[in-house]
Amino acid sequence: MSQVQIRLERITMRFRRRGQEPFTALQDVSFEVEAGRFVSVVGPSGCGRSTTLSIIAGLLTPTSGEVWLDGQPVSGVQTNVGFMFQRDALFPWKTVLDNVMAGLIFRKVPRQKARDKALEWIRRVGLSGFEHHYPYQLSGGMRKRVSLAQTLVYGPQTLLMDEPFSALDVQTRDLMENELLALWQELRKTVLFITHDLEEAIALSDEVIVMTAAPGRVKARYAIDLPRPRNVLDIRTDLHFMQLYEQIWADLRDEVMASHSGIRSTS
Ligand SMILES: Nc1ncnc2c1ncn2[C@@H]1O[C@H](COP(=O)(O)OP(=O)(O)O)[C@@H](O)[C@H]1O
Ligand SMILES: [Mg+2]
Repeated sequence: MSQVQIRLERITMRFRRRGQEPFTALQDVSFEVEAGRFVSVVGPSGCGRSTTLSIIAGLLTPTSGEVWLDGQPVSGVQTNVGFMFQRDALFPWKTVLDNVMAGLIFRKVPRQKARDKALEWIRRVGLSGFEHHYPYQLSGGMRKRVSLAQTLVYGPQTLLMDEPFSALDVQTRDLMENELLALWQELRKTVLFITHDLEEAIALSDEVIVMTAAPGRVKARYAIDLPRPRNVLDIRTDLHFMQLYEQIWADLRDEVMASHSGIRSTS
């Protein structure tokens, strides 16, 4: 039997707002992600995707409901979780090597060991030769690779990725997606990936979760039974890919429209 890595049980998140009614960002959100799976969450902007990731990482406490990570209830910030955001968190004054080492040093890993591990990850993300460069000397794609190395170097079992490639140009993005898939295939991490791009979600994932416009609920879940290994460029012209896209978009479209018209945003 496969093991559940992430489990959300009826998560509701209400934010207090000064002088206004509390705002319900998430309402009764339940889903689980099995270990080693790649699952994406799509939904209109403001449907609570980032909030969901913060709750899983223990950065936010939900108003009600429970979160389990690797069989343990989440309370407080989780250390076995890697987070990647749209904006990278590189220290501009540190070299690539020092940036990748930083998390390990913070975790009290001895310097030589941290250096060896960092160098290994810099190599694995294809940045050998750039160890002593500074972030400003790197392209957007290279900075993403540094972020990836920074996230993977301390060996988290779960990766939470919040629109990590949204700010990249299309070609760089395709490249990074393929590299992420290759790494994932090799490492067998559990990935929960947020994106507003349905094509990206389908191309990468084993499953796509569609969320409703605010308050965010799970609207539907789709198994993506496309063969692996995948090339995100080739897969988009696959007939079954296009069928899945149409099917899921029909669901997602209504939510995007609802979110734009704001008809449900006050509930
Ligand atoms: N700390 C907060 N206080 C009040 N409202 C918040 C807070 N964080 C998020 N929200 C609101 O909750 C909703 C969901 O936010 P978010 O999870 O960032 O959405 P998404 O990532 O899907 O675009 C948004 O309407 C946002 O304005
Ligand atoms: Mg967000």
